[in-house]
Parts: sequence; C-alpha cells; structure tokens
Amino acid sequence: MAVRRGSLRSSPSIVFPLLLSFLVAPPAVAQLPWTNCGDSGAFEQNSTYQSNLERASAVLPRNASSSASLFAAGAVGAAPDVVYALALCRGDASAPTCAACLGVAFQDAQQLCAYSREVSIYYDLCYLRFSGRDFLAGADNDEMYLLKTENVSAPTAAFDAAVGALLNATAGRAAADPTRRFATGEEAPGGSVPALYALAQCTPDMTPAGCRSCLANITRMARKLFSGSPSGRFIRVRCNYRYELQPFFSGSPLLQLPALASPPPHTMVPVPANSTSPVNGPGRKNRATKISVGVASSLFFMLIGLASTIICWKRKTPVRSQNS
Ligand SMILES: *[C@@H]1O[C@H](CO)[C@@H](O)[C@H](O)[C@H]1NC(C)=O
Ligand SMILES: *[C@@H]1O[C@H](CO)[C@@H](O)[C@H](O)[C@H]1NC(C)=O
Ligand SMILES: *[C@@H]1O[C@H](CO)[C@@H](O)[C@H](O)[C@H]1NC(C)=O
Ligand SMILES: *[C@@H]1O[C@H](CO)[C@@H](O)[C@H](O)[C@H]1NC(C)=O
Ligand SMILES: *[C@@H]1O[C@H](CO)[C@@H](O)[C@H](O)[C@H]1NC(C)=O
Ligand SMILES: *[C@@H]1O[C@H](CO)[C@@H](O)[C@H](O)[C@H]1NC(C)=O
Repeated sequence: MAVRRGSLRSSPSIVFPLLLSFLVAPPAVAQLPWTNCGDSGAFEQNSTYQSNLERASAVLPRNASSSASLFAAGAVGAAPDVVYALALCRGDASAPTCAACLGVAFQDAQQLCAYSREVSIYYDLCYLRFSGRDFLAGADNDEMYLLKTENVSAPTAAFDAAVGALLNATAGRAAADPTRRFATGEEAPGGSVPALYALAQCTPDMTPAGCRSCLANITRMARKLFSGSPSGRFIRVRCNYRYELQPFFSGSPLLQLPALASPPPHTMVPVPANSTSPVNGPGRKNRATKISVGVASSLFFMLIGLASTIICWKRKTPVRSQNS
C-alpha cells in the first residue's frame, strides 16, 4: 500500500504552500523508524557529549519502563555538554516492550544519525528525542505524519466527519487520563463508513488543558492532509494520534462511540415561509422533538460545512497572494 509521510514544521501562515509541495511530491514508501537527525551539528568521538549520551541511553529506557506513565525526560551531564532527552512509550505497551523499544531507539539513533547532537526517532510503540539544547523547556514542534495515498470508498465528507468525531472524543479521554494521558477508541460502522479505531496520547507531564490543545492543534493541522485517507498518524513530541480501519492497539478500546448520524438529505429542503409549522402545535411533543433534532442536526452540518469553507478559503488566500 502506498504511504506518504512528512513533516509540517512551519508557522501556520506557510502551512498551506508546504502542504501543496508535499502533495505533488512522489509518494515515498515510509518505513518506521522515522528519523530526524536535526540541524545542531555533530559531536566529537569520545567527547563529553558522547559519554553523557551513553549515560542517557542507560537511564531513559529504564526510567520510562519502570514508571507508571511509561515516560521519562530530563537532562544528563553538565554545561556545555548537557544532553536533554525525552522518551515515551505508547500507553498500551508493557514495561519490557517499552524498555526494548527505547533501547533499540538509542542504538538506531547512533546508526541512522551518526554523531548528531540532536535526533528524533519514532516507532510504533515508542519514540525518543534528544538534543544539546533544552527543547524540554519550551514548545517543541518536531513532528511527523503518515497517511495512505488511496482514498476510502465511503463518501469523503462522511468519512472525515466520522474520523473527526472519533479523534475528538479519544483526545478528550486521553487528556483526562491522569497517569498516561492515553486513550484508545472505536467508532461503530454507520452507513458506508466502516468501523474506525484510534488512539491519542500526550506526554504525561502535560496538564489536561495543554494536552487537549496540543491534540486539537495537530488534528486541525492534518484535517485536510488526511482527508479520505484510510489511516493516518501524526506525532508531535508532546502529543500524537493515530487512526486505522482495523484494531491496532492492545486491549479493548477505552471508548466506544456509536456511528456518527448523518443528516437525512430532505431536511435541507427549505420550508415555504407561509407554511404553518407543527413544531409549536399542541399535542405533538414527540413529533416536535424529532423535528427539532432534525433541524438542529442539519444546522450542525451546515455550520461544519461553513466552517470548512472558511478554513479552505483562509488557507488558500496566502497561496494566491504569493502567486500573483
Ligand atoms: C576514542 O577512544 C577509543 C578507545 O578509548 C580509541 O581507540 C579511539 O582512537 C578514540 N578516538 C578518538 C577520535 O579519540
Ligand atoms: C531517572 O530516575 C532517577 C531515579 O528515579 C532520577 O533520579 C533521574 O533524574 C531520572 N533521570 C531521567 C533522565 O529521567
Ligand atoms: C482522494 O480524495 C481527495 C478529495 O477528498 C482528492 O483530492 C484525491 O485526488 C483523491 N485521491 C485518490 C487517489 O482518489
Ligand atoms: C469534542 O469532545 C468534547 C469532549 O471531549 C465535546 O465536549 C465536544 O462537543 C466535542 N466536539 C465535537 C465537534 O465533536
Ligand atoms: C499550534 O501549532 C502552531 C504551528 O506549529 C503553533 O504556532 C501554535 O502555537 C500551536 N498551538 C497550540 C495551542 O499548540
Ligand atoms: C403558501 O402559499 C402558496 C402560494 O403562495 C399557496 O399555494 C399555499 O397553499 C400556501 N400554503 C399554506 C400552508 O398556506
């Protein structure tokens, strides 16, 4: 299956042109691990930085896998050779799997980014980032995404709405998890939209609000990119999510979502202004409730349509002005 991967490191205003360049690039077959060797230069062989990195590679897999949060982050060594490192395992990984994944991550990092002072390396079950600069203190947007280049057979709008609902609900549950900031979810199939499976996770040191906003941000950034793709994953150092058409996580999903109801098409037909609506009529409570639910849901979908139109328009504007 064709897979496309990439990174969207950019300010919001140049996201769209960058996105375009990814879309016209020939699809590359992505293979995990995905690495980013950074641009902080190299350390010397036998340097203090190297020995600090070796200490980090002994400490972090042990600390993360022995912690209930499956997470470790910290500084090793003294200035000017401090190694800042962050290691996170997926919330459904076992302690031994976590330790093994991070052990391999440190080894692969030395192979795939030999002597790089800064490396990010992402696997299915864990990721690792280290650097000579303190990326732990501020916002750090190192990231990668992965998607499939063929579309699902379901109507794109309905499929995207179902994915959006599942990701939003799973993100909310992950942000509320005090130990791992991790959640898995399943959405029942509905109409032509198949069953969906998702996970969302933040680094467990984030606040619930910070986690929610990090996940909201990466979901928003990838909405257009992932449109119609039967699977997608977006990993940023502080938060990540993934969805698939098949279960891909251990255990049963923490969250079970019913199928997203689609609006019956006839509710969009305008009602003549002179018609007397039964909504306020007496003795028609049941019917009135159904109708107002119908009206509310069509309003909801119209709002979503309007919102996506505005988003498209806003994103296209800088492209036009650059081209003219
Ligand atoms: C690094 O140390 C090893 C053994 O300690 C030695 O063989 C090697 O020559 C050293 N490399 C440099 C560049 O100093
Ligand atoms: C690893 O754990 C030890 C003991 O809990 C702690 O002192 C140390 O700061 C931790 N280091 C990192 C980098 O997580
Ligand atoms: C998938 O759908 C998008 C619109 O949602 C379209 O632009 C794209 O060309 C489609 N890709 C394939 C391979 O059909
Ligand atoms: C997203 O999830 C939150 C709960 O986590 C919910 O309150 C909100 O209504 C949801 N938004 C959408 C658009 O589904
Ligand atoms: C969302 O991402 C953009 C681009 O990386 C960043 O500038 C912005 O601060 C982020 N917002 C949040 C709430 O994380
Ligand atoms: C609404 O007006 C049209 C003509 O303007 C008329 O034919 C129709 O009977 C009216 N309907 C009601 C419910 O008054």
